Amino acid sequence: MKKRIAVLTGAGVSAESGLGTYRDNGGLWDNYDPMEVASIEGWYRDRAKVLDFYNMQRRHLREARPNGAHLAIAGLEKDYIVDVITQNVDNLHERAGSTHVVHLHGEVTKVRPENSCNEEDGFSEKSVFDIGYDEVRLGDKAPNGVQLRPHIVFFGEAVPKMEQAMDLVSKADVVLIVGTSLSVYPAAGLYRYASSDARIFIIDPAEVPLFDRRIVHIRKVATEGMKDFAGML
Ligand code: APR
Repeated sequence: MKKRIAVLTGAGVSAESGLGTYRDNGGLWDNYDPMEVASIEGWYRDRAKVLDFYNMQRRHLREARPNGAHLAIAGLEKDYIVDVITQNVDNLHERAGSTHVVHLHGEVTKVRPENSCNEEDGFSEKSVFDIGYDEVRLGDKAPNGVQLRPHIVFFGEAVPKMEQAMDLVSKADVVLIVGTSLSVYPAAGLYRYASSDARIFIIDPAEVPLFDRRIVHIRKVATEGMKDFAGML
């Protein structure tokens, strides 16, 4: 029976692919106010500004390629059952070959009518569709005639996949955290659902706020840290 690994990733795993992180100096939130471009209030206040922000992210993603860390994470599937649970909205895990990826905060290549995938329809994704790296503008409507919005979990919105993620982490024999500052809840608290006998590792070149002494901190960038991690399994 193959062991299970839950891999919890954040923006740091895509840093070496040239995609910006959020909170490192020079990160996205140094140049944009998340409350203007990534919150539900920001969406209602100025849809065009939000659409432009994610159009820019899609343009960057078109030029980006999976890096050695994405590939190493996908490679774990040879010997393990791997659940990637990512806060990232990029598609680099999928493009690296990972076959089971849960996007807690949505996916930037996907859009939906702005009146869907909410409490009223039970967060149904039936009207979500993939536009790749194309742009979405104010006035672009879904088949139901409603304005299209990014399939992103904005600040101020529920995280519908959290239950699924908690269940996957609780089943894991190994929990690997890569490239997240663990500063946005509820995603940041996910690793605490690890079973008491699970091994927990975190790969991050920076100091990280750890609340569990059993966590092994591999203090390196993702591509290098994944090599160390492979040797520790
Ligand atoms: N390899 C590994 N980790 C790295 C690298 C790298 N090359 N470069 C930076 N890091 C680490 C940083 O030290 C930091 O701990 O990645 C982390 C990035 O943290 P954030 O920028 O806060 O990104 P993240 O934790 O994914 O943010 C969580 O915040 O704004 C929201 O929805 C957004 O999903 C995002 C969430």
